[in-house]
Amino acid sequence: MSTDPFRGRVAVITGGGGGIGSALARAFAARGARVALADVDPEAAARVAKELEAGGAEAVPFAVDVTDRADVHHLADAVCERFGGVHIVCNNAGVAVGGEMWSAPMEDWEYTMAVNFWGVLYGVQAFVPRILEHGEGGHVVNTASMAGLTGMSFLGMYCASKFAVVGLTESLSRELRGRGVGVSVLCPMIVQTERRKAAQAAPDAAPPPMRGGVIQADEVAGKVVRAIDSGELYILTHPEQREILSRRAARIDAAFGDDAA
Ligand SMILES: NC(=O)c1ccc[n+]([C@@H]2O[C@H](COP(=O)([O-])OP(=O)(O)OC[C@H]3O[C@@H](n4cnc5c(N)ncnc54)[C@H](O)[C@@H]3O)[C@@H](O)[C@H]2O)c1
Repeated sequence: MSTDPFRGRVAVITGGGGGIGSALARAFAARGARVALADVDPEAAARVAKELEAGGAEAVPFAVDVTDRADVHHLADAVCERFGGVHIVCNNAGVAVGGEMWSAPMEDWEYTMAVNFWGVLYGVQAFVPRILEHGEGGHVVNTASMAGLTGMSFLGMYCASKFAVVGLTESLSRELRGRGVGVSVLCPMIVQTERRKAAQAAPDAAPPPMRGGVIQADEVAGKVVRAIDSGELYILTHPEQREILSRRAARIDAAFGDDAA
């Protein structure tokens, strides 16, 4: 096996049927990876797989609901059976639900946590042991958000789920240190996807948008590829994130008051 993290390697991407997930699939395939596109919408996954195959890549769609633990473990079995193993796992499927956290229906909380948090944990539990087992190395990319690094009004459910993903992933990177498996957490600000276009068409039904520039999913995928190449933990997508995160760190620092001296 070559040391190239992509060529001939197998990547599984949840939420691979659209948006950032399909852009990851295109970027990985362009580097010679074999790709498993896992999505709750099998037709969307099949469309992306067909497009990649037409370009000469090996790409296979799988139906999975990441909120179902057994389903995610079946996915891991099916991917390993089809490809003989797995190296890169992108726990990327996610949903954004907005609203006041004190009045939001519990179903909204449960759905948000089920997809965004439990879905990521199930992916880690199903795939990390398989990557460790073959000893060829690999990489885990968990998709969080800028909403996992700073609180945002009326996005409390989303923020809580994404902060959980950041915490889980920082811890995972420590637990996997020296084991040959890289770990990254993807924290984008606004990315142009079908979901965002739908939100723009029906603004009343959509969660409040984050403020900031809008970039394309392909640009995000390029940053993920570079992070896998270089083993970077944090994948940040927008230059304006730096100032926002510095201000947050300064607010926390200020809480020490004079004791900090
Ligand atoms: N687009 C943005 O601006 C943005 C910003 C920050 C973070 N993110 C995060 O990036 C990830 C991808 O978002 P996107 O914008 O590409 O979204 P998207 O809605 O365009 O695509 C998400 C994909 O996930 C699939 N999916 C949804 N629920 C699923 C489930 N239970 N099981 C399996 N698949 C499921 C959908 O069918 C869809 O194909 C998400 O985790 C999202 O929270 C997006």
